[in-house]
Amino acid sequence: MGMKILMITAAIGLLVAGAFAGLKFAADNRDTMVGDSSRYSAVTAGGGALTKSVGGSGTGTVHEVRNGDSIQAAVALAQSGDVIRIFPGTYHETVYVDKDDIILSGVVIDGAWPVMEGEAKLNDAVLYSGNDITVENLQIQHYKGNAIMGQAGNNFLIRNNHIIDTGVYGIFPEFGTNGLITHNVLSGIEDAAIYVGMCDNIHVTNNEVFGNVAGIEIENSRHSIVENNYVHDNTGGVLVFITPGLPIKTTFDTIVRNNFIVNNNTPNFGIPGSTVSGIPAGTGILNMAGDQTTIEGNVITGNQVIGILITDHMNAPNVTLDSGADPNSDEIAILDNLMWNNGYSTIPEITALKTLELVEGNVEILNIGASTNSCILDPDKYVTVGLKSFGTCGFTTTADVTTYLLDEPAERRVIAAEDMGKRAYYGICAGCHSYNVKMIGPPTQIIQALYMDDPQGIVDYITNPVKKRDDYPEMPPQNYLSEEVRMAAAEFMLQVSR
Ligand code: HEC
Repeated sequence: MGMKILMITAAIGLLVAGAFAGLKFAADNRDTMVGDSSRYSAVTAGGGALTKSVGGSGTGTVHEVRNGDSIQAAVALAQSGDVIRIFPGTYHETVYVDKDDIILSGVVIDGAWPVMEGEAKLNDAVLYSGNDITVENLQIQHYKGNAIMGQAGNNFLIRNNHIIDTGVYGIFPEFGTNGLITHNVLSGIEDAAIYVGMCDNIHVTNNEVFGNVAGIEIENSRHSIVENNYVHDNTGGVLVFITPGLPIKTTFDTIVRNNFIVNNNTPNFGIPGSTVSGIPAGTGILNMAGDQTTIEGNVITGNQVIGILITDHMNAPNVTLDSGADPNSDEIAILDNLMWNNGYSTIPEITALKTLELVEGNVEILNIGASTNSCILDPDKYVTVGLKSFGTCGFTTTADVTTYLLDEPAERRVIAAEDMGKRAYYGICAGCHSYNVKMIGPPTQIIQALYMDDPQGIVDYITNPVKKRDDYPEMPPQNYLSEEVRMAAAEFMLQVSR
């Protein structure tokens, strides 16, 4: 999953080749007032402590796990309401939490942390599918897939974890409503360090992400706030996306505010051939097809290609258009941000667009493609290209919105049997298998041809994979998933059609 798009270089090339006329002659909307704050003031927010409606209750038994013990064994004993305290030590395991209301809580003593160590062999550290889950105070390192991944769990709280080089994603909640990700430090991730996928009502605050390909990504999600994060030295800083082809088709109402988005120039080390490997190193904020994104109060500096880039799906040639998803970035609001020293060593395509608009200086903000009802508060403050259709914002701040977290916990989500396979497939398998392109694993189409009417054959393989192909890595075993989930995923994989 992630980003099928970022062939921006090619995208802009296309644009230069033909479509720029629209851009050049676009109406100048500067004197038009666009938008008011009603879409924000309608949401009065939870108020008080951000944590009041997320995480486990901690009302039950406390289980202690010490060096040499298994965390998973404690999870097996635990019941809803319980707390699992993990003492300093080194734990080599994948922990799967399929119960509701559980707290996994590291105990840090005199600077000694509990360390989950994947030794570059294990795929995932913590996977949860329960609701009301807390994961905190863990150091997680050297996994190949994810550090903390959630599937369909509502009311999650992920805080104060140190995540180092854990493969494709760092913190990756998927299909969750009402979740807080705070005070984590993540580095060395090959795709997105904090990856919010197909979620609602999310707050990402006070994290530090550096040395990743993508810092923070909000994808196919609604009502999210990304604030007060320190996002530095990634390839791309903060991404707000609609990725086509996923079961949930919208991203809207994302507030990106008061972050430090600095020096995101790290050479791209995405897995060769992977989709993120196309992000131009030096991108501060990137909005692709996300609607109602408000960018306010950020310090954006030292990003060599561009400070803020807004694009639609059409200008992203690697994207298979999704008829169910609106390809444009609409109702974007760029309020007051502090931007300097961006775009100083940009890609030739941006230079070409700049020349077409007769703009001087390094471009800080670029829009490519149609964008309706978008606005910028003070266009003369920045060097911009492609923003002629943007009006002047009729509001100046989102400060009235404390959070989009809910006042009360969201209803616990129970995964229906018929959804189980779909969730597991999109949540786990699709990270490596896409329908018809080679990713980390072979295309699903090829697997369908191999296994036809034999889901049990797939279950057997994924439980205990053997190396089959010279041009692919080994597939990690999926035996942490219950037999039922493995079968549901296999059945779904055989019937999925794109
Ligand atoms: C971390 C990446 C990754 C994940 C996650 C993943 N796979 Fe794979 N898968 C691979 C790779 C790599 C191969 C090719 C292995 C080989 O040929 O040696 C593969 C091969 C397969 C095959 C082909 C077996 C054969 O006989 O040729 C099947 C079936 C399969 N995966 C199913 C799944 C299912 C179902 C899931 C989700 C529950 C899944 N995979 C999750 C990487 C992954």
